[in-house]
Amino acid sequence: MSERSDRFAGIRQEILEGMEQRAESRAAAFELRKQFLDSKTGKIGQMMKEMKNIAPEERASFGKSVNELKEWAQQKFAELDERMKARELRLRYELEKIDVTMPAEEREVGNLHPITQMRNQLIDVFAGMGFEVVETKEIETDYYNFTALNTPQDHPARDMQDTFYLSPEFLLATQTSAAQIHTMEKKKPPIKMVAAPGKVFRSDDDATHSPMFHQLEGLVVDKKITLCDLKGMLDVFVQKIYGEGATTRLRPSYFPFTEPSVEVDVSCFECGGSGCKLCKGTGWIEILGAGVVNRKVLENCGIDADEYSGLAFGIGIERAAMLKYGINNIKLLFESDLRVLKQINDN
Ligand code: DAH
Repeated sequence: MSERSDRFAGIRQEILEGMEQRAESRAAAFELRKQFLDSKTGKIGQMMKEMKNIAPEERASFGKSVNELKEWAQQKFAELDERMKARELRLRYELEKIDVTMPAEEREVGNLHPITQMRNQLIDVFAGMGFEVVETKEIETDYYNFTALNTPQDHPARDMQDTFYLSPEFLLATQTSAAQIHTMEKKKPPIKMVAAPGKVFRSDDDATHSPMFHQLEGLVVDKKITLCDLKGMLDVFVQKIYGEGATTRLRPSYFPFTEPSVEVDVSCFECGGSGCKLCKGTGWIEILGAGVVNRKVLENCGIDADEYSGLAFGIGIERAAMLKYGINNIKLLFESDLRVLKQINDN
């Protein structure tokens, strides 16, 4: 009898020690439970099977003891499981803890490319003056890029633009001026449009020229349009982009599609006109080409040149941006160097 009770006490002891030493997780506790309570392989489970070998008069008390032991063990393991559950939850909380007082990780926020910024500003200025915005094409026909703009085959002015020809008929647009023709073919005057984004291409490559660059083309066609309208409009444009004090100066020039043609200078916004490095001591900086639309161009588009006149201008967007942001090499605009691009955030 006492041998048996020793055995029962031994199992209890084993369970308590196991719980103490080996139960570190719910999984380990479950394994331990199996060692005792599994109906086939568990130590207590096996005791049940011994019943048949026990003398009949002792069977009842043995059965009772085994049942008590089993209930006791079940109770202990249930408690252990609860403890393990709570422990695992605590560990998980510890692991996933968020310190809300920690400084937030700094997020890099991008900004628009300087060329896009400048283009947007130009569009804003001209849209504010009532200009409609149209898109330009990157591939043009020889007719739209040159011939319709009064620059027929063999015209010496074709040499002004080193052209990438794709075929005798197609080429990469060398200027946005073709947008003038597309617009006048589609619309009757009055016309007031700017064309952008204006990607153009020329076989030209140095510190101030890139084989691909951007222009913004402008065209106004109406009755009694003169060069004075151009001057007034451009003054507003340079003041909005380069500051209140800026003004423009027109110099005679030549473009086949305008007559008269002018180069437009803006008063140097760096020195205010007294002469500095930026304006090479002249007080003026060249900023765009413009003129009164040649009547041949109007006629090419079926517009009566006796009734209507027009003015046109083409602004180099890179050039406008380089001047405004003090960039001395056009390559800086195309190298995608974040150290440079981050400095220019004007929007
Ligand atoms: N298309 C000219 C160029 O790329 C710029 C230009 C000059 C545009 C005079 C015009 C203009 O509309 O009237 O050099």
